[in-house]
Amino acid sequence: MYVRFIDANFLAGWLHRAFTFRPAGKLDKDPGTLWQHTFSSKPDNTVSSVAIRQAEALQHINLGNAWAVPQRRGKTMPQNILEDLILRIRQAAASEDRVSAIRALLQESQADKEELAEAIAAFEEDEVMVFEDETCSIWTCRYFADVVFAPHEHCMGVHIAVYRGTEVEVLYKREPGKLRHGGNSLVKAGSVVRLGPEAIHAITADGNAQSHAIHVYEGPLTKIERSLFDWTTGERVAFSMENFHAMARRKASMAEFS
Ligand SMILES: [Fe+2]
Repeated sequence: MYVRFIDANFLAGWLHRAFTFRPAGKLDKDPGTLWQHTFSSKPDNTVSSVAIRQAEALQHINLGNAWAVPQRRGKTMPQNILEDLILRIRQAAASEDRVSAIRALLQESQADKEELAEAIAAFEEDEVMVFEDETCSIWTCRYFADVVFAPHEHCMGVHIAVYRGTEVEVLYKREPGKLRHGGNSLVKAGSVVRLGPEAIHAITADGNAQSHAIHVYEGPLTKIERSLFDWTTGERVAFSMENFHAMARRKASMAEFS
């Protein structure tokens, strides 16, 4: 009898793509559209896919003050919990007191941190933009402990909710002719922090495993011009994902971690 074994990771990846993604040929920037913009941490990869899902596919329902996404065939519970959180973040980002509303929501989401970490782990890419409109930009982010991505600005506030592992914010201030290291902030699983619009940080993880987090930016991150900063001189470098990855350093070589 002919028996064919299928690698479990391959099968899981195929199932995830088959039931989660709907590839499209062009970027759909219509307001309210849920779309994905994925990046790989590999230095030679930048944008790899766009325009995956349409908002109407979510079929969300309003339950009083809470948004919920009904279980759908092909979706795991963690994926539903993540989609539900995305909808609620959008609602918070559109509210009057959006900074505290987003923060409170992310703190509340820590009750589901295991499931949210699972949903983030299921993405093929380490950094995935799962939603963006004029009010917010929502990303899932995984980082390794041995690579530190280059100092950069966001020009808007960002909320960081870590669900697995420890993310490290390496903070800097610009001074004439250099970047001054301002310390490292370790954000452990279960924590939520916010960096203000003036913050400059490099980013990595601590420990032996990848960190898993959601980053919620208080505006359309991909629509603005922002900068990376030269590690030594502090000079501005145009932000692109290509430059972001090309300027990454090995943690072992950095004085900031000695
Ligand atoms: Fe950042």
